[in-house]
Amino acid sequence: HRAAVLEAEDATVARGAVESNHRGYTGRGFVNYDNVTGSSVEWTVEAGAAGSVPLTLRFANGTTTDRPMTLTVNGTPVATGRSFPGTGAWTRWQTTTLDVNLQEGTNTVRATATTANGGPNVDSLTV
Ligand code: GCU
Ligand code: CA
Repeated sequence: HRAAVLEAEDATVARGAVESNHRGYTGRGFVNYDNVTGSSVEWTVEAGAAGSVPLTLRFANGTTTDRPMTLTVNGTPVATGRSFPGTGAWTRWQTTTLDVNLQEGTNTVRATATTANGGPNVDSLTV
């Protein structure tokens, strides 16, 4: 498995905006989730074979309040209300990693905000 960086700004954004006003992102920018429950980013992930792979989300949260999100793979929750805590500044990006099972071929990975604060700013998904 060769890891690929999938930029959030190239994914499917529902209730969010691609922005670039906080430095330190990769690619053209990052997704600023609307500060509402249910805002989301969905990536399409190709896997050459079924199996477990690490998913790494790169994010920034310039507040002191957690911005939990539920992660789904092919519609199935794999992490419910996963923590995306404050990172100290909107320009300070951190990563969080979890192992998930992918099916061979095309998969969808979605990160959906679970509180009215919305998600953190999200830069990329590395798979
Ligand atoms: C600020 C910041 C945004 C961020 C937002 C938020 O407006 O500039 O990048 O998304 O706060 O609190 O969600
Ligand atoms: Ca936001």
